[in-house]
Amino acid sequence: MTVAIDLGVTQTKIYTSGKCRKFDSLVVEPPLHQAPPSVGLSGIEIGYSARTFYVGEKAAFDGEAANYPVRPQALDFHDDVRWCAALAALEETGPFDIYSGLPVFEYSAYKNAFEKHMTRMWEFSFGGRDKKVEVASVVVIPQGAGAYYSAVLDPSGKVTNQTRVQGKVLTLDLGGRTLNGVTMQGGKFRANGSFTLFKGMVNVYNNLRKLLYLTYGTPLSVYEVGVALRAKLLMIGNTPMDLTNDIKRAAASVWQEIRDGLELELPNWRTYHEILLAGASGFFLEEFEEFFEGIPVTLLENAEYANVRGYGYYGELQRSRRGAVPSGK
Ligand SMILES: Nc1ncnc2c1ncn2[C@@H]1O[C@H](COP(=O)(O)OP(=O)(O)OP(=O)(O)O)[C@@H](O)[C@H]1O
Ligand SMILES: [Mg+2]
Repeated sequence: MTVAIDLGVTQTKIYTSGKCRKFDSLVVEPPLHQAPPSVGLSGIEIGYSARTFYVGEKAAFDGEAANYPVRPQALDFHDDVRWCAALAALEETGPFDIYSGLPVFEYSAYKNAFEKHMTRMWEFSFGGRDKKVEVASVVVIPQGAGAYYSAVLDPSGKVTNQTRVQGKVLTLDLGGRTLNGVTMQGGKFRANGSFTLFKGMVNVYNNLRKLLYLTYGTPLSVYEVGVALRAKLLMIGNTPMDLTNDIKRAAASVWQEIRDGLELELPNWRTYHEILLAGASGFFLEEFEEFFEGIPVTLLENAEYANVRGYGYYGELQRSRRGAVPSGK
């Protein structure tokens, strides 16, 4: 069975049989001396490698920004835990052929090591129940390339947009930790013109959190800042405060750093035919239209899931090319 998993640092997305799902990616390991928090529908409890972890909303309540890991090496232990949570969500034992992605920078450094590490029998517990799930194969493409495939293929892997396939297209996928720029030309990934900027929504969250504390004296958790950011509102007592300007202020320095990064990484941006925007907060990048003077900028439909859908569509393309199911059901 073919499945797509997008291991985002802030949100893990799953695509299977035409359906998308997600959970918050934050992983928290409670200190050993504490009783484990009660986990309801809002949290996922995973036992892995003889330790217990909480993934998702429950973890987000307990965690702070510092818990958003900066992946220091090829194989991040928290990714293993998120992977287990994603496998548990599939509610089957496999074997699965999984299509996934890594940020461009990590893709070039770790693609093979990551694929090898993730391909195996996974043993863990989910909500106290033991699970054994077989991952038969893993194929990793750059994050952002997934979003591109979602914009040129249909769910069965057939090309739906020849113009885009023939042209030179840049995808900008704004995530929590990273912004990935991916150049696709003639339907092929080009390393030249593809890059990772280590700037994302977590930087905006942190700025906003500081700003709200200084303005209203309210120390919010990262989770609460996320809620406020999405609602563009903060309740102070019974009064809703409009945060539109605070969000603009919090984001301004991050957008400037991204602009500087694009200047540096994309001296040839004038040679592109189209810019595609992806990621849950990809819509924020619409203000970059000015930067790309005259080049069409398109926010992808359901941009939050563009990457994971595209991994799935790409998987179908590969399957149809091989003309057979490689393994699994
Ligand atoms: N409607 C919204 N408005 C603003 N921000 C949002 C909205 N929905 C989600 N977000 C935030 O956007 C950020 C990016 O989400 P996304 O799922 O694209 O990142 P990710 O894939 O987890 O990160 P990365 O790609 O860096 O690993 C998250 O921090 C998420 O909380
Ligand atoms: Mg992402």
